[in-house]
Amino acid sequence: MNRAIYPGSFDPVTLGHLDIIERSLAITDELIVGVLNNKTKNPLFSVEERVNMLKEVTGHLKHVTIQSFDGLLVDFAEQLQAKMIVRGLRAITDFEYELQMSQINHALNSNIDTVFLTTRLQYAYLSSSTVKEIAAMGGDVKKFVPQPVVGKLYEKYGMIR
Ligand code: COA
Repeated sequence: MNRAIYPGSFDPVTLGHLDIIERSLAITDELIVGVLNNKTKNPLFSVEERVNMLKEVTGHLKHVTIQSFDGLLVDFAEQLQAKMIVRGLRAITDFEYELQMSQINHALNSNIDTVFLTTRLQYAYLSSSTVKEIAAMGGDVKKFVPQPVVGKLYEKYGMIR
């Protein structure tokens, strides 16, 4: 069984993330989306909300499960017997950080490798922060996040749409 982890903050999940999740299934038998419970990042959505949104938007996908984690990613991977970490690369600006992360993770645990999927062009400019900024100012985020996330974003900013 080839099991992989797709880790991230997912605050909130975007269509870019969902695209990586769907395409990862071509290279792994089972994908665990690991939601980082990162106390230093001061997220808009609680870890439970982020996990639940991901469950809702991946409900149609077989072989995808959602779990939160804290601590080191390689320890979480080891615990789940996953040998592969999946990350999306949007632009060259992601590369340096991602290269460093993959090398650190490999140095921490040489059984675990990182594979990169390039983001589809239509999502190359997307990030959770930009989506939050647009929603906070009442802009239209339908093109950027899965449908169930749209209302939850406006709700956070006290807007009913
Ligand atoms: N589509 C759209 N947006 C994407 C994307 C895609 N395909 N891929 C990444 N992004 C965005 C995210 O939305 C996020 O945007 P934001 O900064 O505006 O919120 C940004 O790119 C990067 O976020 P994310 O992919 O969630 O990564 P991260 O940097 O928050 O976390 C972890 C990366 C979870 C893998 C990393 O922090 C980790 O492993 N932490 C655990 C501790 C550890 O083991 N550290 C390593 C040893 S020091």
